[in-house]
Amino acid sequence: MNTANDLPGAVTSGRLLDDLVAARLSRRAVLQGSLGLAAVSLFGTPALLKAAAAAGSRPLLGFTSIGISLADTVEVPPEYTWQVVNAWGDPIMPGAADFAHDASQSAAMQAMQSGMFHDGMHYFPMPRGSDSSTHGLIAINYEYTDDNLLSPDGMETWTAEKVQKSKNAHGLGVFEVRFDGERWHTVKDSQYGRRITADTPFVIAGPAAGHPWMQTAADPAGRTALGTFQNCANGYTPWGTYLSCEENFTPYFVNDSGSISRLQDRYGVPPTDKSWGFRWHEFDERFDAVKHPNEPNRFGWVVEFDPYDPASVPVKHTAMGRMAHEGAMLSEAPDGRVVYYMGDDDFRSRFEHIYKFVSARPYVKDGGYEANKHILDEGTLYAARFHEDGSGEWIELTHGKNGLSAENGFSSQAEVVIDARTAADVAGATYMDRPEWIAVHPTTREVYVTLTNNTSRGAGKPLHRDEPLGADAANPRAPNLMGHIVRWREAGADPTATRFEWDVFLLGGDPEHADPVKRSNSALAFAQPDGLYCDPRGVLWIQTDSSAANMRDTDLVVKADWKNIGNNQMLAADPATGEIRRFLTGPVGCEVTAVQFTPDMRTLFVNIQHPGEAPLAHPGRNDPHKPKAISTWPDGEAGGRPRSATIAIRRKDGGVVGT
Ligand code: FEO
Ligand code: CA
Ligand code: CA
Ligand code: CA
Repeated sequence: MNTANDLPGAVTSGRLLDDLVAARLSRRAVLQGSLGLAAVSLFGTPALLKAAAAAGSRPLLGFTSIGISLADTVEVPPEYTWQVVNAWGDPIMPGAADFAHDASQSAAMQAMQSGMFHDGMHYFPMPRGSDSSTHGLIAINYEYTDDNLLSPDGMETWTAEKVQKSKNAHGLGVFEVRFDGERWHTVKDSQYGRRITADTPFVIAGPAAGHPWMQTAADPAGRTALGTFQNCANGYTPWGTYLSCEENFTPYFVNDSGSISRLQDRYGVPPTDKSWGFRWHEFDERFDAVKHPNEPNRFGWVVEFDPYDPASVPVKHTAMGRMAHEGAMLSEAPDGRVVYYMGDDDFRSRFEHIYKFVSARPYVKDGGYEANKHILDEGTLYAARFHEDGSGEWIELTHGKNGLSAENGFSSQAEVVIDARTAADVAGATYMDRPEWIAVHPTTREVYVTLTNNTSRGAGKPLHRDEPLGADAANPRAPNLMGHIVRWREAGADPTATRFEWDVFLLGGDPEHADPVKRSNSALAFAQPDGLYCDPRGVLWIQTDSSAANMRDTDLVVKADWKNIGNNQMLAADPATGEIRRFLTGPVGCEVTAVQFTPDMRTLFVNIQHPGEAPLAHPGRNDPHKPKAISTWPDGEAGGRPRSATIAIRRKDGGVVGT
């Protein structure tokens, strides 16, 4: 098809038509099964950009787009600077010591320092209620650990102390930050500094609280769980609290009995402790899913806590469903109910669903946490079905509706939310290619989701299904190595609607790739999109998480598919004009994650996660005596090992980031 003839007319007719035509084009390409999508160049089309300029609109993106990188450092446009604000092991509360570069510090010290692998985060201005852009609290997820880097001899010996240190390097944190006019600093001995680890007590709230499936020997009431881990992306509430999402929690459990329940199986509790590397169960019996079959049910939730109150007890919100939650993106309904969009990105089962939660009641504006602490306890959970014709529907996951009955194994709403995946299967939700972060455009209310990749699509049976799943309209590539972004528009732009229109927004890959299944329709090369955020100006920020195993051979040589893509990166797109620019590239073996602005938009916080990740079979991968084999970021040769870190990025002239 000749898109060059189609698009300009649409653009000059205005924004809405532009979008509709773009949607039609991308949908038509999908429906035709035509994967020669390089022809559908929505981005960087000169005619589009010229039309935007002619319309007199000031371009959203003003920075110098940078090239790809294989360097072991962060690169940003020349008119910007970056600095590390807080890295793994940095002290964040009174009594904490500086990081020891040989990783020799105790488990107890780790519980007072930043955790190991920075992921989702949110900036909360200080004091509460202000809009300060120079003083704040950052609430953050420490997703997981590399236990071979966490102590001087890694996993060569395995002890209770090492399990404790691993648990204490997981979880959540709060650290206080201040800007002195030139640089950001972490307040080392802050009274607000906090760590929540894999052992911190949580209250269980919502329909599953107290249900027999939530009861354990240590908690016969089923109302108090210990800890959180694998906290990936995040969310926030309009009443000023932080949400954190428990993702790939099952590999921490083992059921080697040879007999596994439907529930454990659907969530992927592994039958052997050899496959995934976490060895907590050897020193903490609650991770033995044979002896404690309900313990896994107490994970896979969205959790909430008040970052301004270090004594606040964190809560697990079961009404929002149990899954390998990526994040929880807020969209407020006109009547004040809160709506959260959530992806289920299980890195092993791969084919999971997209969910939406709509609170039963509007929140109390200006009421703070006290007035709103039960808003997320009650509401309606939905799963998305993407029809081939570009329409879509939200299917209600409520007991008694859509097949969620006793005959299908659900005797209450508690069972629906604990086994939300099976509920979505039964209700007919679409199996997506690993849905990651979700973004909501501030004015159009369009919703964007990254589908990071799924090399199992079309290639054999998914873990929990009897037949293979091939390409469909919303997941058009099989196998899907490079990932894509889908967007939808709710009926009436109302986030509580149960109908929507959708299209494939962007395909990852190399625009020059000879193989159409790996070719991007973007003007810039990128692969395996993950982090996603639409800022208040309407810029869509896209971050990538290509695994080291996908990107490099065992000998670290970059694979041919990644030759023009390079290290993980961060792009900025203007959905209105189709312009796209590359803003940041990360160090070797890292993932780029989280997009957080100060209220004045003059500082952008980003996380660099797991620099130095090695391809799976690389001989240095599990060698604790060669911690710097892949990367020395951010400390360089002076440091002992690579460290995940929060960085702050600013324009050198102090201007708005992105311009
Ligand atoms: Fe933790 Fe789906 O990335
Ligand atoms: Ca992610
Ligand atoms: Ca990812
Ligand atoms: Ca990663």
